[in-house]
Amino acid sequence: PNAPLLDRFGRVATDLRVSLTDRCNLRCTYCMPAEGLAWMPQPQQLTDDEVKRLVRIAVEQLGVTEIRFTGGEPLIRRGLVGIVTEAAGLTPRPRLSLTTNGIGLDRTAVALRDAGLDRVNVSLDTLDPARFHQLTLRDRHADVLSGLRAAVDAGLTPVKINTVLMRGVNDDEAPALLRFALDNGYQLRFIEQMPLDAQHQWDRHEMVTAEEILAALEPFGLQPDDVSRGTAPAETWLIPDHVDAAGEPARVGVIASVTRPFCGDCDRTRLTADGQVRNCLFATSESDLRKLLRDGASDSAIADAWRTAMWGKRAGHGIDDPKFLQPARPMSAIGG
Ligand code: GTP
Ligand code: 5AD
Ligand code: SF4
Repeated sequence: PNAPLLDRFGRVATDLRVSLTDRCNLRCTYCMPAEGLAWMPQPQQLTDDEVKRLVRIAVEQLGVTEIRFTGGEPLIRRGLVGIVTEAAGLTPRPRLSLTTNGIGLDRTAVALRDAGLDRVNVSLDTLDPARFHQLTLRDRHADVLSGLRAAVDAGLTPVKINTVLMRGVNDDEAPALLRFALDNGYQLRFIEQMPLDAQHQWDRHEMVTAEEILAALEPFGLQPDDVSRGTAPAETWLIPDHVDAAGEPARVGVIASVTRPFCGDCDRTRLTADGQVRNCLFATSESDLRKLLRDGASDSAIADAWRTAMWGKRAGHGIDDPKFLQPARPMSAIGG
C-alpha cells in the first residue's frame, strides 16, 4: 500500500516540488512577457487545505522525503507559512526548502524558519541595480539583497543563489557574482538556460554553456568536490580557503541541464498550483489530482493516481531530439 513513486526506468521520486502560484512580481525577460501571462483563475488553484492534503499523501504514502515550494513566486502565496507548518508536522518530517526571487524574504525569513523551513534558494542574475531593472522590469534589486541577508540571519542555510547567464546581457558577471557570493557566504549556482520560456525564444546557440562558465571561473582555482552530485542537478566545485555562512567549505555549482543532462538520476515529482502532477519539467502531459480531490477520492486512490503518473516518466528531456517539443506550460507555472 505504501509503494514509492517508481518509474519504468527504475528511478524513485522522493523529492516533491510544489508550485504554489503561477504569478510573479518580477518580469524576467527570459521567463515571461512584460504584460505577464494569463494567470490561473483562483478557483482552479488548489486551496491551502488541498495542498496540505496532497503533501501529506506524498509523505505518508509515497515516500517523499524532501519538499521544495516554488512558484511563480511562492512568497506571494498568502498561505505559505501555514503550508510549511503543516508539512513540518508530518512524520517522517520531510526536509523543506523554498525557491524564491527573494522579494519579501527580508520580512518573512524568520517566520518561515519558525514554521519549519530548512533552507532557501534565491534567484539573482546581476549585481548591478540598473541591469536588474532591465532584466526583470522591476526596480527591486535592493529587496533581493536584503532578502538574501535575512535568510542567512534566520539560519536558512546553505543559502543558494541561482543565476542564469545570458549572452551579451550578464555573461560578463560570472566572476563578480562568485566573489559576491564568497564574500557573503552564499552558495552560487549557474544554470544553463532551458527551453521553458513563455515566449519560446530559447536558442541553443545563444545559451551560455557550463563549459564557458567554468572557463570564466578559472582564476578561482576550483577543485573537484569531495561529495558526489547524487541526485542533485548541480555539479559542485570547492573553492579553496573559503567557507560559507554556515562555516562549511565554500562551493560553486553549475546546473548543466542542456549540455550535461542528469535525467538518469532524477528523483523529482512535481505538483502544479492547479493540482496537476508533472513527472518531468519537460512533460507534455499531466495527471489531474485536483479532480480526484474535488470528486471525493480517498487518499489511497490519489496516491495510486500519482504512482501511475510517475510510472510514465520518460527517460530524458529530449532537448537534443529533432522532434523535441517545448511543453505548453512555461517554467513560471511549473516552478523550476
Ligand atoms: P537544491 O540543490 O537541493 O537546493 O535544489 P535545486 O537546485 O533542485 O533547486 P532549485 O529550485 O534552486 O533549482 C535550480 C534550477 O535547477 C532550476 O531553476 C532548474 O533550472 C534546475 N532544475 C531543477 N530541477 C530540475 C529538473 O528536474 N530537471 C532539470 N533539467 N533541471 C532542473
Ligand atoms: N532555464 C533555466 N532556468 C530558468 N529559470 C527561469 N527560467 C529558466 C529557464 N528557461 C530560473 C530562474 C530561477 C529558477 C527557479 O529558474 O532564474 O533562478
Ligand atoms: Fe518570476 Fe522567476 Fe520568472 Fe523571474 S524567472 S519572472 S522571478 S518566475
